[in-house]
Amino acid sequence: MTGKFISIEGPDGAGKTSVLKAILAELRPLLGERLLVTREPGGTGSVVAEAIRDLVLDPNLPTMDAWTEALLYAASRRQHIVETIEPALADDKVVLSDRYVDSSIAYQGGGRELGVEQIAKLNTFATHGLAPQATIYLDLDPKIGLERIQTQRSDEVNRLDVEALAFHQRVTQAYHELIERNPERFWVIDANQPLDQVIEQTSASMHQILHDELG
Ligand code: TYD
Repeated sequence: MTGKFISIEGPDGAGKTSVLKAILAELRPLLGERLLVTREPGGTGSVVAEAIRDLVLDPNLPTMDAWTEALLYAASRRQHIVETIEPALADDKVVLSDRYVDSSIAYQGGGRELGVEQIAKLNTFATHGLAPQATIYLDLDPKIGLERIQTQRSDEVNRLDVEALAFHQRVTQAYHELIERNPERFWVIDANQPLDQVIEQTSASMHQILHDELG
């Protein structure tokens, strides 16, 4: 497999959307057609994965069982890999995914308390072990994250956003365990800082990760 696979992760409210927007404005002119931007749940160019996204994030489905949810995220990811990620990597592209397996480990494994090992296993099965070479993590105090979601957000609030602080604390803790276990893969950015600094540091990390591709 050629190409480069990078994911971006973080708890809700970390400013991932704004940071990504700024980073993409910088990377697009440099990488052109070589850059493929995608997201999870769902995925660029995958009708099936996007249909599962609509289902799994639907706030009108409060009876959804936590394992059903975990399986749907994994199913969406499987389709995303087959239709989007693998073909792009085979074509030597730089694939930048807004969330990937770490989100399931943090939210379903930690947040929903299904167990990080179990969710990791489920995802190894779904992905056949396909993992990003680098992951940018926007690190944020979960209290601040929740405050930001509740006060600043004008767009639709999804099912997970309305969870209690304890849920968000478990999510962050699971992310931190992942970082401890995979220090060579994670690039941690302090997202408690003002947005322009978060963007600047993410950009600097991205340039190091893409040293060969941009050089
Ligand atoms: P989205 O509206 O895309 O939010 P964000 O900008 O925070 O990525 O919704 C994604 C939500 O789905 C987010 O709250 C995290 C959650 N999620 C999981 O719980 N498990 C997963 O495997 C993935 C990919 C996302």
